Amino acid sequence: MKFFIDTANIDQIKEANDLGILDGVTTNPSLMAKEGIKGQDNILKHYVDICNIVDGDVSAEVIATDFDGIVKEGEALAELHPQIVVKVPMIKDGIKAIRYFTDKGIKTNCTLVFSPGQAILAAKAGATYVSPFIGRLDDISNEGVELIQQIVNIYTIHGFETEVLAASIRHSMHIIGCAEAGADVVTCPLDPILGLLKHPLTDIGLEKFLADHNKK
Ligand code: E4P
Repeated sequence: MKFFIDTANIDQIKEANDLGILDGVTTNPSLMAKEGIKGQDNILKHYVDICNIVDGDVSAEVIATDFDGIVKEGEALAELHPQIVVKVPMIKDGIKAIRYFTDKGIKTNCTLVFSPGQAILAAKAGATYVSPFIGRLDDISNEGVELIQQIVNIYTIHGFETEVLAASIRHSMHIIGCAEAGADVVTCPLDPILGLLKHPLTDIGLEKFLADHNKK
């Protein structure tokens, strides 16, 4: 299972990358705005900065919602850096654009996916990644991790090559659930990744080992 970090914050990307477990980055317009990255030139430069930190795929999301606009923006993003994956929303023109990008050899991430039917369409269009948002489903009393399991099952039965990228992860147990469900990738903020490190018995055990070592 690959680990992506879901942020546009350079310090957090560097921290996760320094751990040696990072396989890529996902961003979205809200995450870019949160870091105060505004204006087309700054946004494009920021994507390149991220690509220069991490050795892996970096999802950059289009803003356009019509086919021509998505294609124009996506092609410009893809030209920025070989690691860029064009992130396209799960809408009719988005699916058409994903097919277009797939045929041109441009990697895509189909975002804002909330149902197995949407995931089937993304795979049929040849998306490199499909991003089901599990935290947002939990927010409305649906089982986000169950959706991951459903999509993984469908893709396995039908041999779809699209990778299941579990998104909208809120806590460490989401990561465990996605791992059990067979997600190919989890994209998470830094805290849930660091949360995986924690166990009180590790802390107690280490304290005891060090105390015993220092006994005279
Ligand atoms: C996916 O790629 C999105 O950037 C992200 O995971 C959305 O998460 P949120 O629901 O916490 O905003």
